[in-house]
Amino acid sequence: MEHQKFHYKILEDIREEENKLGISLPFSGNYRRLYEPLTLYGTVIANRLAIAPMEGNDSDSKGFPTQRTAERYLAYARGGAGIIWSEAIAVTPEGRSGKVQLVLNEETLPQFAKMNARIKQAGMEANGYQPWLIMQANHSGRYAKPNGFPEPLIAYHHPIYEKNYPLGDSCLVSDDYLDQLVEVFDHAAGLCKAAGFDAVDIKCCHGYLLAELASAYTRPGKYGGSFENRFRFLLECVRRALRYQDETFHVTLRLGIYDGFAYPYGWGVHEDSLEPDYSEAVKLVGILHEEMGMEMINITMGNPYVNSHVTRPFDKGKYLPLEHPLEGVARMYEGTRIIKQHYPRLNVMASAPSYLRQFSPDLAAGAVEKEYCDFVAFGRQAFANPGFPNEIRETGKLDKKHTCVTCGGCGDLVRAGKPCGCVIRRPEK
Ligand SMILES: Cc1cc2nc3c(=O)[nH]c(=O)nc-3n(C[C@H](O)[C@H](O)[C@H](O)COP(=O)(O)O)c2cc1C
Repeated sequence: MEHQKFHYKILEDIREEENKLGISLPFSGNYRRLYEPLTLYGTVIANRLAIAPMEGNDSDSKGFPTQRTAERYLAYARGGAGIIWSEAIAVTPEGRSGKVQLVLNEETLPQFAKMNARIKQAGMEANGYQPWLIMQANHSGRYAKPNGFPEPLIAYHHPIYEKNYPLGDSCLVSDDYLDQLVEVFDHAAGLCKAAGFDAVDIKCCHGYLLAELASAYTRPGKYGGSFENRFRFLLECVRRALRYQDETFHVTLRLGIYDGFAYPYGWGVHEDSLEPDYSEAVKLVGILHEEMGMEMINITMGNPYVNSHVTRPFDKGKYLPLEHPLEGVARMYEGTRIIKQHYPRLNVMASAPSYLRQFSPDLAAGAVEKEYCDFVAFGRQAFANPGFPNEIRETGKLDKKHTCVTCGGCGDLVRAGKPCGCVIRRPEK
């Protein structure tokens, strides 16, 4: 459908658009809800605003964090977010997304430990509290580029992803490979704790290896077919990571609950349409929360390499995505609400508020107030203005001159393998 780019001057304009589109978003002007502390795993989290994982593409060639990496996280800490969710960090060299992706191993660990201590100290000095720091542990799978060019490791052949780039069977990961990778994630969870992170995220979203296993309906063997097989790898990694859990260290995950591809190549999708079907996500979250004791989960959607508008609704130049960005935001929040509704005691983090620009605090406050979620993770907005949590608290608004404009510039930098940030608001960074 043809639609205008972001042009809303007041919240009422968005309300009108919602009516036209037949969607409903949770809004509230009561921003104080965002600053109510919440106890998570026995630790008080200062507020409901989180920094979403955002790859910065600024490690050195061996995966060490650089001064630029540290500066990004120090700015987040000073900016007041209650939770900082690190960008995807590779747990094994062949699973790296590029030559500038961070890697956690024995060699890089001391550097991470030093950086994490600085991040926490910076939060304490600036705001009187430390941000809760989560490491996103990842294997890039189909999108692995450890040497700067594609070296995909796939769970199964995917006709949609492979339409233009057919892949040979040598790219398929064997069951033996996955068995040893469980050990790698196990080890990485231990390193993550030693590096001073407060939690590890066993990342399962956005088309990377663990997310691809979710839709491995056609894969033979113990990691494909049934629900139990498709989630065997994820649940085993979580189980292993839980062995490191104590009062200082916890296990969480970022879960993509809707891929946006037709069944059987998409997960969270109806068998006969592209509509979401959250039944398996609800079942999986039930296992994670009720059986394994996970207290918090982050919800996201889509595969940014193929349908980026599902993961991060946007307006970009003359390009208009296939759906109105507000429809994408509505899908994200409705899916998140359904998870929260099933497990009211689970702390749920919502994603993708940045399209709303100066109205994103209204969305976040509304989502918390109306019990869609407990936290909201800001991605592109954090690149544009890492100080947004303090700005909203101190000024009662988010200045529209300080917001992300969803131009896609940061995504272009990531795809080009260049150091990444906001090209509009902080081009010098
Ligand atoms: C440049 C860029 C890098 C990203 N890197 C990651 C990442 O490392 N891990 C992840 O889970 N999501 C990543 N994302 C997705 C964001 O965390 C977030 O879900 C998405 O941008 C939607 O939130 P927003 O509307 O607040 O930007 C990235 C997004 C962008 C634009």
